Amino acid sequence: MEAKEIFVPISLESIEPVIFPDVALYIKTGGNFVLYKSNGRDFSDHDHERLSNNGVEFVFVSKDDMDVITSHMEASAERLLKSDILNAKAKGKMIYQTSINFVDDIFNNPEKSSDLKRTRRLIENLMLFLSNNPEAISSLETVMSHNYHTFVHSLQVASLTLLMHSEAYTLSRDEMLDVGTGAILHDFGKIFVPQEILNKSGKLNEAEIEVLKRHPEEGFLFLQDKGVLSPVALTIVRLHHERCNGSGYPLGLENRDIPRSAQITGVADVFCTLTTDNNGNKTMPPHIAVQLMRHQMKDLFSPILLDTLEKLVCTEDIQQFIL
Ligand SMILES: [Fe+2]
Repeated sequence: MEAKEIFVPISLESIEPVIFPDVALYIKTGGNFVLYKSNGRDFSDHDHERLSNNGVEFVFVSKDDMDVITSHMEASAERLLKSDILNAKAKGKMIYQTSINFVDDIFNNPEKSSDLKRTRRLIENLMLFLSNNPEAISSLETVMSHNYHTFVHSLQVASLTLLMHSEAYTLSRDEMLDVGTGAILHDFGKIFVPQEILNKSGKLNEAEIEVLKRHPEEGFLFLQDKGVLSPVALTIVRLHHERCNGSGYPLGLENRDIPRSAQITGVADVFCTLTTDNNGNKTMPPHIAVQLMRHQMKDLFSPILLDTLEKLVCTEDIQQFIL
């Protein structure tokens, strides 16, 4: 059977004409993907304007082209963030646009269902909120320029954390924004961890593990000192590595002593780490990751939260896609 081509949405606003990588671009009309620009022709300012005038928000690329697009986005994000041309507002917009493109990555099938739309909406609201807050933008910018993979991972964790909250609980908009802000900055403390440790491909030695394990407390202390995050967001930053059986860090808390939002972020963090590697490649199907968290990592996570996770990431659509 011929493999079905998978398409990934890219927000039109995040595309810089001419320098965008030379890949085929598609638009979606009436449920079908139609080739807009083939490989070998520049995407011009005129194309951008025309699509924008027609109300097109997203163009689509083949999943196979995502590696080259991700590298391009990483390079342009770094270039733009390091330049003095952009003010906080423009940087916020750029981070917002880059972010939206990575949301779908926690799911294997970009065509899938309402969860995807819900996640996109949740993260859009979060990013809109954050992009108007200079302090939040400066924190995100710091994470993004220190280690781009940490930023992309954080975004995926925030997406899943918000989705799990909205699936299992009733939270107000403000509560969701607090949770999302904490989740997207959960690894902020990694800016204090040297690049060699963050990017090391082999196993870390004991001393390196000790340095890495300081990131929740260091991130918490730094952001608390800034005085801009809510207590819920700070709690997530500090306690996302606590585990139900008390084996986590920094405090070794157990079960209900770990706030729910930090537990959920911890579940989302481990799930995203298991299913995607540092380069954004899929490493493990979602249902295998959930089984591993249930059985091999027994007692680390609340079974109720694992049920919620399973319901969200192991739907029939995804199963069909994997098999
Ligand atoms: Fe972490």
